[in-house]
Amino acid sequence: MSTMVRKSKKTAGIRQAAAILAAVLGTAVIVSGCGGTSPKKGNGSVRIGVSLYDQYDTFISELMDSFGSYVDTRKSEGVEIATIVQDASRSQPAQNEDVAEMIENGCNVLCVNLVDRTAPTEIIDTARKNDIPVIFFNRELVEEDLMQWDKLYYVGADAFQSGILQGEMATEYFKAHPEADRNEDGSIQYVVLEGEAGHQDAIIRTEYSVDTMISNGILLDKVGYAIANWNRAQARSKMEQLIDGNGSGIELVLANNDDMALGAIDAYQGRGIPEEEWPAIFGIDGTDTGLEAVIAGSMTGTIYNDKDGQARAMEELAYTLASGGSLDKMQLPDGVAMQDNKYIRLPYEKVDREKAEEYLSK
Ligand code: GAL
Repeated sequence: MSTMVRKSKKTAGIRQAAAILAAVLGTAVIVSGCGGTSPKKGNGSVRIGVSLYDQYDTFISELMDSFGSYVDTRKSEGVEIATIVQDASRSQPAQNEDVAEMIENGCNVLCVNLVDRTAPTEIIDTARKNDIPVIFFNRELVEEDLMQWDKLYYVGADAFQSGILQGEMATEYFKAHPEADRNEDGSIQYVVLEGEAGHQDAIIRTEYSVDTMISNGILLDKVGYAIANWNRAQARSKMEQLIDGNGSGIELVLANNDDMALGAIDAYQGRGIPEEEWPAIFGIDGTDTGLEAVIAGSMTGTIYNDKDGQARAMEELAYTLASGGSLDKMQLPDGVAMQDNKYIRLPYEKVDREKAEEYLSK
């Protein structure tokens, strides 16, 4: 793989970010410059610029592993394709700058995992001025922003579905295990571990998970909640506080993602509470570590957020846009179609202990 990064004032920064990411993501992701001596567009090669909100987010890094494999496959089929991946480290101004630089360096399509999903305007304006299509992914901008230009797209999943499926799974569990209502008061004492404030998945998952349980006849009693920003360590410390405040009274933990569910498990282990006294703990994502916890039985269940399908759809769309192909001819995962010429959403799936092994090998 050739690494061609055009010299610019930030070249060292790009190299460093690329190298860090290559190390984090393994060899699957091709990290090379979009630049070189060729003109920006129209020479037949595909140059994808990817900007991540935070390379250390577990789900995002697993999605990027898959994305890298799809790029590798395309390359092995003889396509001239290069990718540069930049980490915005949770800074929107840094992301805006990275995007401008990736365009300057010759990328002919961008995949942007927005830091602030309410602030895409600068990126949209820069891309539009240079006629470079943008695929936003995972962090969903509002529809009005996506409609600002016809070369803007979104690849992700349906947040409502993840909340509903988590609520259904928890309902099924409590109906099958009446003894999980440990204090036998007829309602389930629960806590929620929420992702980032303002993130579509955090807001919607919490609301729909709880509402689905209630509408399925489970009486719920909320004894606490905490925002832990998708992060395992933060979830652990917030969960320790919730355990300290509630003793063994918590019967259910609804976590907006697997890393936070794992943080809850860490907290119970850290507090030395025997596993048979732990509450039911549900996550969302089906990350490798999350699935291992489901197999081990420490996490009761998770909802698979199809990182592989999202990566495949994103790579296919990026390739199609950069090579001037037809969107109608894209090879999307089975049962998935582009909606309104704008959105590609992959479905979520429930994963219990029986199914976890199968998902781990995906
Ligand atoms: C969610 C995912 C979280 C986190 C977040 C970042 O879809 O479930 O684990 O990765 O995206 O935007």
